[in-house]
Amino acid sequence: MTNVSETIDSISSTEQAKTDTLLAPRFYRTDYQSLNGLDISSVRREWDSMMEEFRRDINHEHFRKQVDFDGEIHEMTDELRQEFMDFLVSSITAEYSGCVLYREIEKNVDNPDIKELMGSMARDESRHAGFINRSLKNMGVAVDLGFLKRAKKYTYFRPKFIYYATYLSEKIGYARYITIFRHLERNPEHRFHPIFKWFEEWCDDEFRHGEAFALIMRANPHLLRGHNVLWIRFFLLAVYATMYVRDHSRPQLYHALHMDPTEFDYRVFDITTAISRQVFPLTLDTDNPKFRQGLEKLRDINIAIEAAKQRGGLLARLTQGRLAAQAALVFARLYVLPTKRNDMPDNVRMAPAW
Ligand SMILES: [Fe+2]
Ligand SMILES: [Fe+2]
Repeated sequence: MTNVSETIDSISSTEQAKTDTLLAPRFYRTDYQSLNGLDISSVRREWDSMMEEFRRDINHEHFRKQVDFDGEIHEMTDELRQEFMDFLVSSITAEYSGCVLYREIEKNVDNPDIKELMGSMARDESRHAGFINRSLKNMGVAVDLGFLKRAKKYTYFRPKFIYYATYLSEKIGYARYITIFRHLERNPEHRFHPIFKWFEEWCDDEFRHGEAFALIMRANPHLLRGHNVLWIRFFLLAVYATMYVRDHSRPQLYHALHMDPTEFDYRVFDITTAISRQVFPLTLDTDNPKFRQGLEKLRDINIAIEAAKQRGGLLARLTQGRLAAQAALVFARLYVLPTKRNDMPDNVRMAPAW
């Protein structure tokens, strides 16, 4: 039976997914014509073997498996339930945002390599989003994906920004899923929801998606040189900082998993940094104490912004403006911290398996 409170829950989850904040996953459009011109002939051999894997579609059945939601979900406090739902809603938005972007590119390009790749990745992301929606439905809420596609605001990103940002979010997605999966494999008593059991095969999909963007960038090495290095540095920092602040806004979720969000995030940074050496000419020094202090400052500022939002009113809006300027300054300081040059030889370019 769908009761009124479930309907309201569904509407508010869709609203939450639709809301644009700096930290929420976004929806993107790009210049499809310039993707038509992508030439991947210099990485043809690796490209073909990757596409062969996409065609084999080994995870075809994985996301159709029956889940015993009722038998496996632990009792949750209200706070945990709320944070877990936030986590699911932001995950489904990210998965669906990937699905929509890849599907739009597939529809709008003629380049056969890019068209087939985008079709395969859209297929995977739609399965991921669908699976999260099954979990949300079981908790009495659901995100209306069709509505989200029509109502969410789209941000235009130049193709090279799509490559940097999407590459990183696929690889960081892989690193997150595999780290949580391995932790719960060792400590199954903390697996409070069955969705975490799906993460191993899931992360293989994200890993493969990241490899596709790595090949696109390697086939077009100008994307990795000159002033583009400054953009790469920017995206690395933006993606890492966003993840850190967002994860620390869900303390109950990590408490229930018996994970420390700071330790978890630095583990994810380490994995992502090691992988990203397959393409990026530099990595961030996430062990630098100034880097760590900077992320903590961003986290404090985010807490203060949220508190000001709750208060509402003119004074709170002014405070929010001041805090946003402070955050921009901290971000700029983090941006100019020394980075590490990637000296990995050009012939070793496959990402390490974790
Ligand atoms: Fe995905
Ligand atoms: Fe993906």
